Amino acid sequence: MRVIVTENNEQIGQFVGSMLVRTVQEKPDATLGLATGSSPEGVYAYMIQAYRRGEVDFSKVHTVNLDEYLGLTPDHPQSYRYFMDTHLFDHINIPKDNTYVAAGIGYPENCVKQFREVLDRTHVDIQLLGIGEDGHIAFNEPGEVLRCGAHVEALAESTIAANARFFECEEEVPRMAISMGMGDIMRADRIVLIASGPKKVDAIRGLIMTEDIDVRNPSTMLKLHRDVTVVIDRALAELVGYTEE
Ligand code: F6R
Repeated sequence: MRVIVTENNEQIGQFVGSMLVRTVQEKPDATLGLATGSSPEGVYAYMIQAYRRGEVDFSKVHTVNLDEYLGLTPDHPQSYRYFMDTHLFDHINIPKDNTYVAAGIGYPENCVKQFREVLDRTHVDIQLLGIGEDGHIAFNEPGEVLRCGAHVEALAESTIAANARFFECEEEVPRMAISMGMGDIMRADRIVLIASGPKKVDAIRGLIMTEDIDVRNPSTMLKLHRDVTVVIDRALAELVGYTEE
């Protein structure tokens, strides 16, 4: 696992945005695994700038997202489909048909079935991840066991509380989501996880400061992957006690 420390959160966006852009420059028909939330906003802003500068062509790129809230329609402002359209897809030349965000409405078993079919035929070149305060990646929450394939997950109380900032009130946060499983994430060729801010200290400490693989911090399973880059800013690195060699 490679750990990169940037000066600030803005530089995380530039560093990781350029990793994704480079992936597409080297492989124009690459498949990108994408995430939502606050963490990737700078990454997507960088990708849009690179596109506007004429440095990258997304016309042959495919994308698949980690997760979606159950119960939100694609045009709901807090759905992850809406997030992806407004933060990235509407601003670059990717055909919308090449982008997949799992359906959040319909029978959950059908949403899962379709997500699994898409993942079965998808090879992700690089997977972007954020991390929850409790160490979740996608919506794989800490528990006695972790799930391998796409599934419906009940969000942890801390995740509901954290995500309430995007909604009018905590009661509006969906309690369930459809999520890639740990195995789906681990099948990506390369993984890049980004984090900043004091709320991620415990999760990042478990990921980069110990050798443990612990279901109480699902991100720690990434230690089994051959090509993981963790990008954090200096403030977070100091809080977890990480020093660069
Ligand atoms: C989002 C996702 C989640 C977030 C995590 C961190 O698609 O899968 O795992 O990455 O909850 O969210 P932020 O970046 O908002 O702190």
